[in-house]
Amino acid sequence: MRLVWSSQLETGIRQIDLQHQELIDIINEFEAAHLAGEDARAMNELLPRLAGYVIFHFATEESMLPGIPGGAEHKAMHTEQHKAFKERFAKLKAMPGKDQRGETSAMLEYLKQWLVNHIMKTDMQLAGLIMAREAKAG
Ligand SMILES: [Fe+2]
Repeated sequence: MRLVWSSQLETGIRQIDLQHQELIDIINEFEAAHLAGEDARAMNELLPRLAGYVIFHFATEESMLPGIPGGAEHKAMHTEQHKAFKERFAKLKAMPGKDQRGETSAMLEYLKQWLVNHIMKTDMQLAGLIMAREAKAG
C-alpha cells in the first residue's frame, strides 16, 4: 500500500515536513516501478535517488541541532539510522540479481517501515526539542 502523507506525520517544522513528503514521493515512485515490473529501474535509479535525498535530509536536520539541549543524542540516533540504511544497501549488493522481484519487494517494505519510524520516533523528538528551545527563546 502506498504511503500517504497525513497530519499525523507532521512534525510542525515546515522544512522537515516538506522533505518528508519528498521522501514519501520517491518511495511511492519506487513502489509504482515495482508494481509495473520495472524492478531494475526501482533498484538502479530510484533507490540511489532516495539514498541521496536521505543524506541531504539528514544534513538539513543536523544543521538544526547545534545549541539544542539533547541535540548530540539526536545526532547519534541519525548516525545509527544512517548506518542501518547503509548496511541494508550493502546486503543487497552482496547477493545480486537472484530474485530481483523478491528483493525489490523486501526493500520496499523496509523503506516504508524505516521512513515511518524515522518520522514518528526520531523526528517527532527532534521537533519537540526545537520547539522547546523556541518557546524558551520567546
Ligand atoms: Fe526526517
